[in-house]
Amino acid sequence: MRILIVGSGAREHALALRLSKDSSNELFCAPGNVGTESVATNLAVASTDIPALVEHALALRVELVVVGPEAPLCAGLADALRAEGIATFGPGQAAAHLEGSKRFAKEFMVRHGIPTANFQVFEQYEPAASFVQEAQRPCVIKADGLAAGKGVVVAKTPEQALDALDAMLCRRAFGDAGARVVIEDTLVGPELSLHVLFDGVTARSLGFAQDHKRAYDQDLGPNTGGMGAYAPVPWLDPSLQQQIHTQIVDPSIAGLKLDGIDFRGVLFIGVMIHEGQAKVLEYNVRFGDPECAVLCARMEGDLAQTLWAVATQTLCDVPPLTLSGSAVAVVIASEGYPEAPKVGVAIEGLEEAARMPETSVLHAGTRRREDGRVVTHGGRVLAVTGRGDSLETALSRAYSAVDVLGIAGSHHRRDIAWQARKPTKSA
Ligand code: AMP
Ligand code: GLY
Repeated sequence: MRILIVGSGAREHALALRLSKDSSNELFCAPGNVGTESVATNLAVASTDIPALVEHALALRVELVVVGPEAPLCAGLADALRAEGIATFGPGQAAAHLEGSKRFAKEFMVRHGIPTANFQVFEQYEPAASFVQEAQRPCVIKADGLAAGKGVVVAKTPEQALDALDAMLCRRAFGDAGARVVIEDTLVGPELSLHVLFDGVTARSLGFAQDHKRAYDQDLGPNTGGMGAYAPVPWLDPSLQQQIHTQIVDPSIAGLKLDGIDFRGVLFIGVMIHEGQAKVLEYNVRFGDPECAVLCARMEGDLAQTLWAVATQTLCDVPPLTLSGSAVAVVIASEGYPEAPKVGVAIEGLEEAARMPETSVLHAGTRRREDGRVVTHGGRVLAVTGRGDSLETALSRAYSAVDVLGIAGSHHRRDIAWQARKPTKSA
């Protein structure tokens, strides 16, 4: 199948690598990255340039477009491609609101009885500030729109909450994305995510994974886009899994159908287990990054056919993908990430790491210099992924590869999957 993958992160490299395992697939990436270069033809087109992407998809006669990131989905890329008759994996703009507007997502949850933290929506500083001062409990301030993972402040004190409100509503630190805020109760507990393929008719789960949002071991650092992930999640007991399916997944899928929201892609449901009950933190309308790395490492079956079936609303006709073994992804981040990542630093050991068994070195923030050297070019640089029959094997493979890679000043977590390794379950 001729497939165009839109995006340039570790997620898109993971998808390209997995799709390239079937030699009958011919792959293009827009724009792709240094890693996708070896399995696909990279096109010099930005992932948000909708007219150019449509033009290339038509000219290249691709049979399927897989959209990785949220920004082009929220901007209507899938609608524009479908208008030209191009099968597209990824929801249209209306459905992408589930990620693009926190208010829309929260109202959807309330409408369909899906457990989530209590919340209020504000557009003016004064009433929002009074609410926070009177609430007498910690709260979370969220910019309504897309803010590249930076628009959520878990405020420990009213002062921090007021600061966040001032930044979003008055100083417009996130532009229009912060012109409206959602203030919600703080939940406490382990987080995990579930990916569900949905074509508008048929839904199929791709299982649970756990990301590590904070930089530094023991969650001591600031929030990031994600510092590492693993799957499956052994500490999640069957009754909680059942609860998540019946109280969250089923009503989310039923809600999309009831509301007539045309969704063709993957619904990522971010969940927190608060006082033993699962509650939804957020929906994303695309694969998580780095979660996609561990999903792709575990998937068995025909991924191209499955993504095409989602795009063409024929998922019920194809055999389900199965998930085998365990996988772990460890993100190596640049010095200064997430505040001010240092770029242009040489990356050593890529060839040696790439030769290691059942290991993939996925590129995210990298660039090939004119002299051929690969250097850092972003905050999250690489997602180093190991697979194995057990979590321990997957972990040891991922960290063995991390240890042969050298990026001066970089940091990564050494404790990925700690919750799965504790002698007693942590949920
Ligand atoms: P979101 O983009 O809404 O998932 O928020 C980003 C991160 O902020 C989540 O992964 C959580 O770690 C944290 N967070 C969001 N909402 C809450 C909440 N209500 N209580 C505690 N932490 C939260
Ligand atoms: N890793 C979380 C996300 O992709 O939003």
